[in-house]
Amino acid sequence: MTQEIWDAEAESFDDEPDHGLTEEHIRAVWRDLLLGVLPAAPARIADLGCGTGTLSRLLVDNGYTVDGLDFSPAMIERARAKVPEAQFVVGDASDPVLEICSYDAVLCRHVLWALPDPAAAVARWVRLLKADGIVVLVEGRWHTGGGLTAHETEQIIRTVRRSAEVQHLTDAVYWGKEITDERYLLVSGA
Ligand SMILES: C[S@@+](CC[C@H](N)C(=O)[O-])C[C@H]1O[C@@H](n2cnc3c(N)ncnc32)[C@H](O)[C@@H]1O
Repeated sequence: MTQEIWDAEAESFDDEPDHGLTEEHIRAVWRDLLLGVLPAAPARIADLGCGTGTLSRLLVDNGYTVDGLDFSPAMIERARAKVPEAQFVVGDASDPVLEICSYDAVLCRHVLWALPDPAAAVARWVRLLKADGIVVLVEGRWHTGGGLTAHETEQIIRTVRRSAEVQHLTDAVYWGKEITDERYLLVSGA
């Protein structure tokens, strides 16, 4: 999908329960999920393809320092309004112009699948990490036919990392509805 298409999506993007996390019980499970795998705060997180900044907001609220990047100016405009404490930049997640060797974690939800060369992108993301930094991905292979299976994402990560732990996110509470497709969290430690 092009930047123009994502610009057009920005206004209504947060309407989906898992996008906006406006319902407290959904926000709570995402908070528990992410804080359960991220390095303890305070830590510095790169939120790649940050969209409207929902996950950045969640992390800042829990003591993290966040830099967000997205190629959609309309998404970044909303992220800046939602999370004034964070730094946001318009840029390509395939080759993020962020400080190398500086992040405790790279976080990316629902973006890797859309990149033209996911393995090349992940290789660049790893360069952003401190020596003990981790990669945290939320991805899926959706009923629409889009996305990446957990196996595919694990293969991509293993081109540059040794570790890849997958947790399937089957519980409806993450999504605000029952799901029948494959959705998961992948954590790659140092
Ligand atoms: C499904 S949304 C996910 C947003 C956010 N990660 C979240 O989980 O709420 C995908 C986002 O990735 C962004 N995106 C897609 N391809 C990108 C690219 N090559 N570089 C930067 N951002 C990209 C889109 O603009 C959009 O904001």
